[in-house]
Amino acid sequence: MSSFGSLGDPAATFVLTGVRVIDPWNDEDAVRDIAVVEGQLVDPAKAPSDAPRLDARGLVVGPGLCDLHVHLREPGMERAETVESGARAAAHGGFTTVCAMPNTDPPLDEPARVAMVLERARNRACRVRVIAAATRAREGERITEIGELARMGIAGVSDDGSVVASARVARGLLAYLAPLGLPLIEHAEDPALSAGSVMRAGPTATRLGLAGWPASAELSIVDRDIALAEETGGWVHFTHLSTAGGLDAIRRAKERGIRVTCDVTPHHLALTDAWVAGWRGFAWEEPTGVAADPFGAPLDATLAYDPACRVNPPLAPRAEALALLAGVADGTIDSIATDHAPHPLERKRVEFGAAAPGMIGLETALSLGLAAVEVGGLELVRLLGALSTRPAELIGEVRTLQPGSLADLVVFDPVARWRVEASGLASASSNTPLLGVELPGVVRMTVAGGRITYRDGLAAVD
Ligand code: DOR
Repeated sequence: MSSFGSLGDPAATFVLTGVRVIDPWNDEDAVRDIAVVEGQLVDPAKAPSDAPRLDARGLVVGPGLCDLHVHLREPGMERAETVESGARAAAHGGFTTVCAMPNTDPPLDEPARVAMVLERARNRACRVRVIAAATRAREGERITEIGELARMGIAGVSDDGSVVASARVARGLLAYLAPLGLPLIEHAEDPALSAGSVMRAGPTATRLGLAGWPASAELSIVDRDIALAEETGGWVHFTHLSTAGGLDAIRRAKERGIRVTCDVTPHHLALTDAWVAGWRGFAWEEPTGVAADPFGAPLDATLAYDPACRVNPPLAPRAEALALLAGVADGTIDSIATDHAPHPLERKRVEFGAAAPGMIGLETALSLGLAAVEVGGLELVRLLGALSTRPAELIGEVRTLQPGSLADLVVFDPVARWRVEASGLASASSNTPLLGVELPGVVRMTVAGGRITYRDGLAAVD
């Protein structure tokens, strides 16, 4: 039996016994007990003797996950998601903080709208931080009231969904943000290069007869913004990175000490452009059929052109997905962020090119990461670092499992498997090509700010 709690619940007290503790903050990987007393992590020897003891043998506890990129669709598209349903999806996925993107309708481009979302987020199943629009109406021209927004505690600014197309405006934003210590979160896509495209350019797009998005659409903006960050001293964060070229440019910029960070989505790591042609293997699996030979193999008519696979930026070819995974493994990519993009059925059950881009991701992110860990593509401590410690640090939050800190954690079974079904998701939408796919990793408990926000099983012993 699973249940949700909220940040407004009383602080929790319990002891997890025999759990594998993975804390990227100090590289801890050890089996021990974890004690939470009135919401605080304490030395297990000091926990009261009547604290409920939960048998956690075989389970892993990591710091609460932190997502730098979600679309909660409020205001304007509440039938796709609300702050409440999105927060539950987050807790179900092990997240304790999510950052809400401003491309709502109307957009989060003024303090009153940001305040409204923060108010709706009070006492939900997950902390919600807001990323405010970088420009008014997200039109790319007039900068929003960033000083006042910064005082409200925004996590950054972004015109996500679109790039800040004008280099002049992007430069002004970086200069203005620099003393505030906040990032410009950039959706790197040159619209002149991507116009009219619906998937990544390459042999698969050619085979399918779909207009292709060239990798240079991302790289040209990454190069531009790195130059602007260097010149202004501002901080640029590239979100949903999807190309090996962009990754290389960021690696070089980091080596030169430029203030640049980035995230990648779980779907750009695990899925590939072959999914648009109907293949259903992960990037690290040996390609077969149309994935191995886009021109020679037959298409599976039930899976090819699945609108659930339409996403922006588009899914990458296998070699680039693997390069991105290596970028997470070596730390060049700071964080894994879902770009959770719920859409109602009528915007997805249409032909591929007419479908709204985006897929949900909060409830499958940890599982896709664990699938990569299972095949040796990533170490577990690195996965949890990219899903929790590092993104939290980027938005000024601390995550650690050391006694003396507020309890903010996720407990999961790394090997148990579950099948992704719409009925099992807490999100109000189910637009993901992973429906029907079996994944490793079941979240058993999420604790945010000392409160149990999600729980599945984990019965008390003694
Ligand atoms: O796939 C996407 N969906 N990419 C974006 O940049 C925006 C997002 C959305 O809002 O649906």
